[in-house]
Amino acid sequence: MEKKDIDWSNLGFGYQKTDKRYVSDYKNGAWDEGRLTDDDTITMSECAGVLQYAQTIFEGLKAYTTEDGRIVTFRPDLNASRLKDSAKRIEMPVFPEDRFIDAVEKVVAANAAYVPPYGSGATLYIRPFMFGISPVIGVKPAKDYQFRVFSTPVGPYFKGGAKPITIKISDFDRAAPHGTGNIKAGLNYAMSLHAIVTAHEEGYDENMYLDPGTRTKVEETGGANFLFVTKDGKVVTPKSDSILPSITRRSLVHVAKEYLHLEVEEREVFLDELDNMAECGLCGTAAVISPVGKVVDHGRDICFASGMEEMGEITKKLYDTLTGIQMGRIEAPEGWIHEIKVD
Ligand SMILES: Cc1ncc(COP(=O)(O)O)c(C=O)c1O
Repeated sequence: MEKKDIDWSNLGFGYQKTDKRYVSDYKNGAWDEGRLTDDDTITMSECAGVLQYAQTIFEGLKAYTTEDGRIVTFRPDLNASRLKDSAKRIEMPVFPEDRFIDAVEKVVAANAAYVPPYGSGATLYIRPFMFGISPVIGVKPAKDYQFRVFSTPVGPYFKGGAKPITIKISDFDRAAPHGTGNIKAGLNYAMSLHAIVTAHEEGYDENMYLDPGTRTKVEETGGANFLFVTKDGKVVTPKSDSILPSITRRSLVHVAKEYLHLEVEEREVFLDELDNMAECGLCGTAAVISPVGKVVDHGRDICFASGMEEMGEITKKLYDTLTGIQMGRIEAPEGWIHEIKVD
């Protein structure tokens, strides 16, 4: 299979249409058999549930080429299961988990020419999503739904090296106590747009959201979970019912314990503990870990010992080990690497 003529290392994180996408419709209480299509457009009622009451959920994962030339995805079963949890929470039908994996496999195989080569740093980003497509005017769930998966090649996250970023404590909340912060629903991201635009205007790279109930504990950013390293070398990551259960964070916890033999604490992390932390990183599919050098709390700088030039030492070990596992350079735990067969 011949690759597309794309300047892989200069790709940004933007949408580019690829050849095929997967579609399955839910009508009369059942999912149809699904299909690949060339059509990247959707026609729906002006009164569709997604347009009126934001009934939409999504996932994000990557396909990439390993050192030995296989095309793989990373733990797609966890994306399938998280989409199921999201669907249940906002009264949508569950798309069966085995069919989710099958749809991802079909989309990647059909767009294999867009999967960037090993070493380019680029990946094929995969976006499964589901939305209410039938009309609803009274506030209630839609009757009919569509599940789709598209893919788009994206560039390396760290172009000029992984420079630590500066983030601010947000005055906005991204989730409510007992709300929807722990699912991947479009509504959570609409909520965060004003906060991120404001943070950027003020010169910050990201927001740190606090727990919406007491505003004393660290939650997450708009698109990543936090991971800290204490001054005595323990890995600490916030536990909360209102953050998204990041697949990268869960994988890093395993890597920290089983590969690097570090002590790990998954627990509530109070804002006033940050002065005791030596390193801080944001973890998510996009960057794996992106280092944070400084948190600004209403004019007070909280600077991590790792500084503003490089990733902290333990953060770097975690990053190198997980990316090594993903790229096939380090042996992966059973079931983490899902190979895609391309004819
Ligand atoms: C709010 C939020 N938190 C955390 C993450 C990181 O999750 P994952 O590691 O599964 O990509 C994401 C990205 O999916 C996110 O949108």
